[in-house]
Amino acid sequence: MKILVTGGAGFIGSHTVVELLNAGYEPVIIDNFANSNPSALAGLRQILGQDVPFYDADCNDSEALNAIFEKENFQGVIHFAAHKAVGESVAKPLMYYRNNLNSTVLLLETMQKYGVPNLVFSSSCTVYGQPEHLPVTEETPRLPAQSPYGNTKAICEDIIRDTVHAGTPIKAIALRYFNPIGAHPSGLIGELPLGVPGNLVPFITQTAAGIREKLTVFGSDYNTADGTCVRDFIHVVDLAKAHVQALRLLDSREEAGYYDIFNVGTGQGNTVLEVIRTFEEVNDLKLNYTIGPRRPGDVEKIYAQVDKVNDVMGWRAEKSLAEGLQDAWRWEQNLQLKKSIVAG
Ligand code: WQD
Repeated sequence: MKILVTGGAGFIGSHTVVELLNAGYEPVIIDNFANSNPSALAGLRQILGQDVPFYDADCNDSEALNAIFEKENFQGVIHFAAHKAVGESVAKPLMYYRNNLNSTVLLLETMQKYGVPNLVFSSSCTVYGQPEHLPVTEETPRLPAQSPYGNTKAICEDIIRDTVHAGTPIKAIALRYFNPIGAHPSGLIGELPLGVPGNLVPFITQTAAGIREKLTVFGSDYNTADGTCVRDFIHVVDLAKAHVQALRLLDSREEAGYYDIFNVGTGQGNTVLEVIRTFEEVNDLKLNYTIGPRRPGDVEKIYAQVDKVNDVMGWRAEKSLAEGLQDAWRWEQNLQLKKSIVAG
C-alpha cells in the first residue's frame, strides 16, 4: 500500500518512513529540503537497506504534485511538509500562511482528483495555547494561536475537517504532537535544525558537543515545581509509530466523512530543569547552562491527556524521557563525527 510522505526527509517524516516500511507500507517521499537535508535519505538507506522512492518537489507545485499522483497509486498521504519555526512565523507571517495553507489545499484537491482516501495531518499542541486545565484533552478549546505558525496548524485542521465533511471520499486524522525529541537508536537519522536551534533538546545536545557555549533556560519564575516550564516530551520513534497506527485506523473506517483529532504525547509533563538533569545523568556529563529571562510567547505548562489515542487509536508512548535524551546525544555525536571526517 503506497503512502505519500510529504516532508519525508525531515525529522519526524524520516522516522515515520522507517516505521511505515517496518509495518509493510510502501512510503514515497516528497521533499524540497526547505527544512531538511538530503543526508537524511542516506541515513534511511543505511537503516532500511534500500532506497526509498523520492521526489525533489514542493507541495505548492501543482504540476509536480499531479505528475506524482498520476504516476503513483497512493492509498494514503501523511502531510508533514510545512514551515515550523514559531519565531520565524512571527517575523514572516505571509510566508507561513502561503506555504502551510496553500500546500494543504493543493494536496486535498489532488487527493480528490486521484481518489486517494486517507490523510494523516501533522498538527501541534500549539493550537491549545496556554490551556486553563491540564492535562489537555482533544475537547480542550483551541485558543487564539500564540503565533502565525500555530494559527496555520489550526486553520489547516479546519480546512481538512470541512473538506472531509463536504462529502468527499477523503477520511482524515489530525495528530496534535506535543514535544518531539530524540532520534532513531541507530544514530543514523535525527533532528537537523537549520542554524541556531530554537528547540530545547537540540540546543542541549549542541551545547554538550561544544557547538554552543551554553544553554540559556528561558525563565525560572513560572508556577511549576522548579520554576521552569513544563512540556510533554515524546520520543520521535514513538511519534512515528502513531502515524502508522493512524493509517491503520483510517483503513478500518469505511464510512465517508470520518475525521478525528488525537493528542499524541506521553501524558507526562517534565520541567526544563528535569530534562537537563536527566540528560546529564543518562549521558554522564555536565551541561553548561544558565538561567535567563522568559522567552515571549512561551506557554507555562502543557501536557497531554492520552486516553483517546490509547483507547481509540490503540497507540501509547513506550520510550522514556531518558531514552529520548540518550538517543538525541548519540545522534549529535554521530553528526559531529561525520562532520569532522568530511572536514578531514
Ligand atoms: C520547550 C521549553 C522553552 C530552548 C515548539 C512549538 C511546537 C513544536 C515544538 C513544531 C520551553 C525552553 C527552549 C532553549 C529553553 N514545534 N527552552 N532554552 O516552544 O514547547 O514548542 O516546538 O511543531 O509547535 O511551539 O518547544 O523546545 O522551543 O521549548 O529554556 O534554548 O524549553 O522556554 O519552555 P516549544 P521548545
